[in-house]
Amino acid sequence: MVYVADPGIVREIFKGDPQVLHAGDACTLMEPTGGRHSLFLLDEDEHLRMRKLLLRPLHGERLKRWATVIAEVTEREVRRWPVGEPFQLRPITEAITLDVIMRIVFGMDPERAPELRRLLPGLFHVSLAQAPSFVVPSLRKDLGRWSPWGRYLRLRARIDELLYAEIERRRKELAAEEGERDDVLSLLLGASDDEGRGLSDVELRDQLVTMLLAGHETTASALAWAFERILRHPDVVRGLLDESTEGGSEYLDAVIKETLRSRPVAAHVARFLTEDMEIKGYRIPARTVVALGIYLMHHSPELYPDPHAFRPERFLGDDAPDHYSWIPFGGGVRRCLGVGLATLEMQVMIPTILRLVELRASRPEPERFDVLGVTLVPSRGGEVVVERHLTNAEPSPATVGASA
Ligand code: HEM
Repeated sequence: MVYVADPGIVREIFKGDPQVLHAGDACTLMEPTGGRHSLFLLDEDEHLRMRKLLLRPLHGERLKRWATVIAEVTEREVRRWPVGEPFQLRPITEAITLDVIMRIVFGMDPERAPELRRLLPGLFHVSLAQAPSFVVPSLRKDLGRWSPWGRYLRLRARIDELLYAEIERRRKELAAEEGERDDVLSLLLGASDDEGRGLSDVELRDQLVTMLLAGHETTASALAWAFERILRHPDVVRGLLDESTEGGSEYLDAVIKETLRSRPVAAHVARFLTEDMEIKGYRIPARTVVALGIYLMHHSPELYPDPHAFRPERFLGDDAPDHYSWIPFGGGVRRCLGVGLATLEMQVMIPTILRLVELRASRPEPERFDVLGVTLVPSRGGEVVVERHLTNAEPSPATVGASA
C-alpha cells in the first residue's frame, strides 16, 4: 500500500482513468455483507451503470422533499430525551438516519418492516466487529450460533430472507401498481440492460444492503461528531444562533464542513492499480493499493493552519480550502453517492435539535477517536446532557432556526 496525503496527488487519482484506478478491488472488505454485486465492489462500465441508477432518488427535487421527513423523525426522537441524564447521541442519530434511508430505499414507513428495522443495525455492527474475519477468510469459522462468525451468518441469512420476501412482494405489486414510485427498490426493479434484462434478486439484494449500510452509519457518526464539537465551542453555537435570527445557512454549512474536516468519518479512501502508474515521479507498480489519507490531509498545517482547532470560519469567504484538500466524501467517479442526503440530514437535524433542547456536553474534555470497522466515531458516542426541553415560545441561547 502507498499512503498519500497531498492535494495534487488526490487530484491526479480522482481525475485518473477508472480502468486503471479500481475502487471495487480495493474494497473487498465489503463483500461478505454487501455481496459481490454491491456498488462498492463494481468497477468500470458496470459500476457507472449501477451508479447512475442509484443516484436518481438521491439528488435534485427528489432529495429535497425528504427535509420535512427528516425534521419530523428528529423531532419525534428529541421529544423523548431525558433531562439531566447523560446519554449517547450516536445510537439516536443512527436510529433517525436508518429510518430515513429505509424510507428512501423501500418507499415506506419502516414501521411496516419492524423486524428488518430491528435487525439491520445489528448486521452493521456485527459486520464491523467481524472486520478481521473479512480480511482473513480463514478466520471465518461457523462454530454455531454463539460463535462470532456463526452469529453473523445467521443474522445475515435472516435479513436476506426478509429482503428477498420484500423483493418478491414488490415484483408482484409492480405490474398492478398505478403511478410512478421513485424509491430505490422500485427504480431497480424497473431497470434493464440493453438487451432488456432486469436485475436478478441477488443483484437487487446487494444494492439494497449497500444503500442501507452506506446510507446511515456514516451520517450518524458525522452528526454525533458535530454535537461533540459545537457543544464544546459556545461561540459556534452563538454563530449558528445569530445566523438563524438573520436567516441563512452559510455558517451552518461551514460548521458542517469543519466537522467533516476535523472529524472525518472515513480516515482514507483507496484505489487498486490495475496498471503501473507514475505519481509525482515515483513509479507505482500494478496491484498496489493507493490510499488517500483523508484524516492526515485534513490535519496538514500547510493546508489548515492550527489544524486541531475547530474553526468553521475556514470555510467562509474566498479563501475556503479547495476541492482536493477537503475530501470527506472521497472523489471522482467514486465520490460518495449520498453526499446530498448526508448534507441535507445534517442541515436539518443540527438546527432542529438545537431548537428543541438546550444541550451540554456531558464532560468538558473532547472525546477521543474510536475506530468502528473502517469508520471513526466519538469514543463516548457523543455524550450529551439535556438541560431542558424548549418550546418555540421560549427562545434560548441554544435555539437555532431550521435553515435547510
Ligand atoms: C457524512 C456522511 C457520509 C460520509 C462521510 C461518506 C463517505 C463516503 C466515502 C469516503 C466514500 C468513498 C468515496 C471514494 O472512494 O472516493 C463513500 C462512498 C459511498 N457512499 Fe457515502 N458517506 C456518507 C453518507 C452516505 C449516504 C447517506 C449514502 C447513501 C444514501 C452513502 C452512500 C455511498 C455509496 C453508495 C458509496 C459508493 C459510491 C461508489 O462507489 O460509486 N454515503 N461515502
